[in-house]
Amino acid sequence: MKVIEGETPLAVADLIEDIIKDKKVCDLGCGVGTFMTALDKYSSEVIGIEDNYDWAMIASKKGFRVITENIFSFSLPEADVYYCWNLCAMGIYLKAKWEGTKGTFIFGHTVRKPLLNLINSLDCEVRTLPNSDWKVYITQL
Ligand SMILES: C[S@@+](CC[C@H](N)C(=O)[O-])C[C@H]1O[C@@H](n2cnc3c(N)ncnc32)[C@H](O)[C@@H]1O
Repeated sequence: MKVIEGETPLAVADLIEDIIKDKKVCDLGCGVGTFMTALDKYSSEVIGIEDNYDWAMIASKKGFRVITENIFSFSLPEADVYYCWNLCAMGIYLKAKWEGTKGTFIFGHTVRKPLLNLINSLDCEVRTLPNSDWKVYITQL
């Protein structure tokens, strides 16, 4: 089994506590569910979508509802907050907009200039993890 390409630092859940507290959160590309465990500290419900079958199985064995599908192949499930840290984050955001999905959309960290420029054009709130360069970009759908 291929090793996952990266995971959000768990402390990011503390950074966004006020946004996710008692809310339903969907991790778009949840991998093996490590970050879902951190989100679960504050959220009323955490669900994930992951198209890698092996990783989705690991995440669901942690007790989470995981939809094992490509995010682009169906309408996003209802949630209050969507967290997305993967290579197609902007495409997923645009899909959510196009479908009329409502909620808060949080982009995980990126150093990719073109994506960063697009994210900045959305007029996001930016939060930085203390003692780190990790940033999240928060916007409304
Ligand atoms: C960088 S990992 C992030 C894992 C976790 N969300 C976190 O923040 O720690 C990105 C995950 O998104 C998944 N992914 C990427 N594109 C996807 C798509 N179109 N549909 C479903 N999952 C996708 C990848 O398989 C990978 O597990």
